[in-house]
Amino acid sequence: MIQCPRGTRDFLPDEMEKRRFYENRLRHVARTFGFREVETPIFEEAELFILRSGPNVLKELYAFKDKGDREIALRPEMTAPAIRMFVNGMSNDPKPIKVFYFGQCFRYERPQSGRYREFFQFGAELIGSATPQTDAEVIAMASSMIRALGLKDYKVRIGHIGVLRQKIADAGVPKERAAEVLQKLDKKLYDEAEPLLKEMGVSDESMRDIFDLTETVGGIEVLDKVPGEAGDWLRQVVAYLEAMGVPAPEIDLGVVRGLDYYTGMVFEAEAPALGAEKQICGGGSYTLSQLFGGEEVFSTGFAVGFDRILLAMEKEGQEYQPEGIDAYVVPVTDETRLSSARITAMLREGGVSSDMDIMGRKMAKALKYASSVRARYAVIVGASELEKDSVTLRDMSTGDQRLVAIADLVAEIKK
Ligand code: HAM
Repeated sequence: MIQCPRGTRDFLPDEMEKRRFYENRLRHVARTFGFREVETPIFEEAELFILRSGPNVLKELYAFKDKGDREIALRPEMTAPAIRMFVNGMSNDPKPIKVFYFGQCFRYERPQSGRYREFFQFGAELIGSATPQTDAEVIAMASSMIRALGLKDYKVRIGHIGVLRQKIADAGVPKERAAEVLQKLDKKLYDEAEPLLKEMGVSDESMRDIFDLTETVGGIEVLDKVPGEAGDWLRQVVAYLEAMGVPAPEIDLGVVRGLDYYTGMVFEAEAPALGAEKQICGGGSYTLSQLFGGEEVFSTGFAVGFDRILLAMEKEGQEYQPEGIDAYVVPVTDETRLSSARITAMLREGGVSSDMDIMGRKMAKALKYASSVRARYAVIVGASELEKDSVTLRDMSTGDQRLVAIADLVAEIKK
């Protein structure tokens, strides 16, 4: 039997209906924040991701040569594509530009619970603005999305990658090796960061300073430890969040992010219920446009790991009740089949989702099938009722039956 490739999944109808439902909730929140949807290709020139995504993403890239000998990659994320799209076709639009997207991304990772090779992100980019309020707007939307989905136990942490970048530069880490160090700090792999920093000639004292910074976590008061503009910036971000009624995030100067392009505020949300793969959302401010041939434009964005957040909701016991269909039409005898088909067509035309027995089943089996597709009503079409231009309408949840004129059927079901 051929299975779907490792790290990928099929979504059966119940699961798919649930996913669409929640995905649309996220779309709704994005629209209420004034963002508009975009879509970019699932594959891109590999270079787009090689330019700035950093070592983490590179080793996980699904890249291949196409028949025209072009280096192609399946997108591992959608920020670089969104900014490429902006440079190609939106750079003259009035700023700020607010876009959102939903789609699959691909990373060659070791699959485990909450970590897939094909996974879905719901993300947004606010392009062309660099103010604390921009950052707050983006965090507020991420936070609204998590709340709109109904997840209860989650934590948002915000930090500033500029502070850490400056610190490691001051300690003597060469610019081109910063990503290597940040990658270790991101995963809090201090044992591995230590020899690396030593090799780069960083003193023990500077090293302790760096590790101290990445362990700086707390309320707004920890910003006292952040020198200069970055501290003021984050204070303003927090003030705007408060004004917008967003629950206060934790300040965590150890938020590094796995991707390489961030320059300023960075944030992550996690759902503790998920264990190892608990990060459900991540983002921050960055500049990428200049790498793709555009002017340098500041942006802030984030992406929600859609699969992970659904998993977290499931762990909290949130259940989704699939909708089913409005009506299932059952001909009592073969003689009423054509009329049943006519009635089914009339229901569909009237906006009632309906289905009809097409396998010639007897009444009991047809009704059983109607339950399995979660039909709200069965429309039973018998010869004697048809003579009165009527059918029997059976409420599938109570079993109550009554005679309804065919002319009134759509209205009755829609009631
Ligand atoms: P990221 O943190 O790499 O950021 O991914 C965003 C989210 O995608 C993660 O927080 C996680 O929930 C989910 N995710 C990542 N990898 C996997 C996987 N293998 N399986 C399941 N879920 C996964 C970005 O991709 C940035 N583009 C976010 C951003 C937008 N920054 C600025 N704008």
